Amino acid sequence: MRENLRAKALEMRYLKGMTVTRPIRNLALIGFMGAGKSCAGRLAAENMHFTFLDTDNVIEARAGKAISNIFQQDGEPAFRDWERRIVEELTRRDKTVIATGGGLPASEANLASLKTHALVVCLWASPETIWERVRAHAHRPLLNEADPLAKIRQLLAEREPYYRQADVLVNTEMRSVREVAQQVIHQFHMAQSAHR
Ligand code: S3P
Repeated sequence: MRENLRAKALEMRYLKGMTVTRPIRNLALIGFMGAGKSCAGRLAAENMHFTFLDTDNVIEARAGKAISNIFQQDGEPAFRDWERRIVEELTRRDKTVIATGGGLPASEANLASLKTHALVVCLWASPETIWERVRAHAHRPLLNEADPLAKIRQLLAEREPYYRQADVLVNTEMRSVREVAQQVIHQFHMAQSAHR
């Protein structure tokens, strides 16, 4: 509950303070695993008549194997290299909603690159909510741990300074995917009209 209030306060501050003064062609969703980037992103793209792109899917298609196999066979640094390369390519996109892997923005270079062409929106959820959402899925190699909730807390704490650099923070607690998508679209339109 305290975590939820903190997220709400953070979100209010971001929404009020949003001033984006650069051209925006795309919408990038960042945030932790289970924050809802893919579900909300797909819905937002559909509504906006934008293309939807999930960086994890692109990597899997290019590498010809599942993310868990990349981690297992090639190691995490190899996966982060894939992310770096995909981020580079994203600079050429137009009218695209991009759902990024949870760890992709935990790099100043990746974040800076996203900001050259996209409104960067962070979807936020507490560690407990994230665990509830991801516990049924076994495909996330970073959570194959004896105590996954502790791992979520640790990673989230490490990544918070990056996630906070998003242009907008949207709290996904107690919100449906549809509500999150609507909020994201609203923020995108506001950012675009502010720049016009
Ligand atoms: C990761 C998140 C995953 C995927 C990979 C690593 C992370 O993406 O990129 O397992 O470092 O947080 P989702 O956030 O889409 O689950």
